[in-house]
Amino acid sequence: MSESSSVGLGRPFRVAFIGAGAIARHHMKLLKQIKNVQVVAAADISEDALAKTKEEHGVQKLYTDYQKMLKEVKEIDAVDVCTPNGQHAANCIAAFAAGHHVMVEKPMAMNATEGRAMMDAAKKAGKQLVVGFQYRFDPKTKLIKDQIDSGAFGKIMYVRAQALRRRGIPNWGVFGRKDLQGGGPMIDIGVHILEMAHYILGSPRPVTVSGNTWTYIGDKPSNVVSQWPGWDYKTYTVEDLAAGLIRFENGSLLTIEASFVAHIEKDIWNIQIMGEKGGANWETSQIFMDQGGYMMNMSPGFLPNSDNFETKMKHFVEVCQGLRTNESSGDHGLMVQKMLDGIYASAEAGREVTVE
Ligand SMILES: NC(=O)c1ccc[n+]([C@@H]2O[C@H](COP(=O)([O-])OP(=O)(O)OC[C@H]3O[C@@H](n4cnc5c(N)ncnc54)[C@H](O)[C@@H]3O)[C@@H](O)[C@H]2O)c1
Repeated sequence: MSESSSVGLGRPFRVAFIGAGAIARHHMKLLKQIKNVQVVAAADISEDALAKTKEEHGVQKLYTDYQKMLKEVKEIDAVDVCTPNGQHAANCIAAFAAGHHVMVEKPMAMNATEGRAMMDAAKKAGKQLVVGFQYRFDPKTKLIKDQIDSGAFGKIMYVRAQALRRRGIPNWGVFGRKDLQGGGPMIDIGVHILEMAHYILGSPRPVTVSGNTWTYIGDKPSNVVSQWPGWDYKTYTVEDLAAGLIRFENGSLLTIEASFVAHIEKDIWNIQIMGEKGGANWETSQIFMDQGGYMMNMSPGFLPNSDNFETKMKHFVEVCQGLRTNESSGDHGLMVQKMLDGIYASAEAGREVTVE
């Protein structure tokens, strides 16, 4: 059990936030539902975000400077980092230096170099680094992973992963700013599907990556009717569409497609697994195998209906309390980050790149 664990000490587990925007306040709501957990402080450069934090969640210790919060608030067990990607590394390293466990929202960082520095800081502090991926906790993910791990699908040859929006450029936050986010849909939403697929495959080592990115609508004014109109096209420096091909050490291939904008029929959020003896479709929880002379399409008679975000927050608290193994650690986050780096580097170089 970690030394800052609240278990057995008869006091609540205390979480402070760096970044108090949309996702942070969702985390706060879920943390408050966990027995004996308190949100004790929050830091954000936006007074508006802090006002909402106070109003919605009753958090009293509010700071516009996170370093000041880390210095002044002593009653903290863990820090939840929910800032734009470009802040993740600095925020996490400061939280570790202050002696706290950390959960950082996805993606772990802007790139693998930052990710490695965060892991070094965690190691030096002797604290947990949890990366806030939630799709690995999805019952559909467990269904497919269990089939693969049992050998039911045989060798997995190919995975097709897609996080595609037809027209869904966020019209809030800084999601169109490459300098603050590291990239566009690939690092923002592709990361979810990529990490889930990689986890399902048993985290094989990526060897080479080929990819490309395209920007053709996000950086121009648009009057097309869509779900989030009016994004800031003037500061839009990320891609609209990205695609990558990743080759793993074990010979499997994965393709990943991610878009904020794509001329497709409808949004797609899915992975398809193709093994020698069986395959699966994540979105529909379907399994495909030959059985008794027929090509069978199978679905489980029952799958739990759990909220992945709730599971992720509970996992974070329990990991910090020393009650559970860290199932979403920096190691995994770093491998995912290397694949993302590879896609962007390959797009830039116009050729396949090697993953270290
Ligand atoms: N797991 C998920 O499904 C999921 C969903 C949405 C967002 N996210 C991630 O969460 C992070 C935040 O996204 P969001 O949607 O909440 O964005 P947001 O814009 O709503 O919130 C970010 C907040 O960080 C604050 N901030 C910026 N710089 C800061 C600094 N230096 N110090 C303190 N606060 C600072 C901003 O003022 C803002 O309030 C991103 O990394 C994003 O990828 C994850």
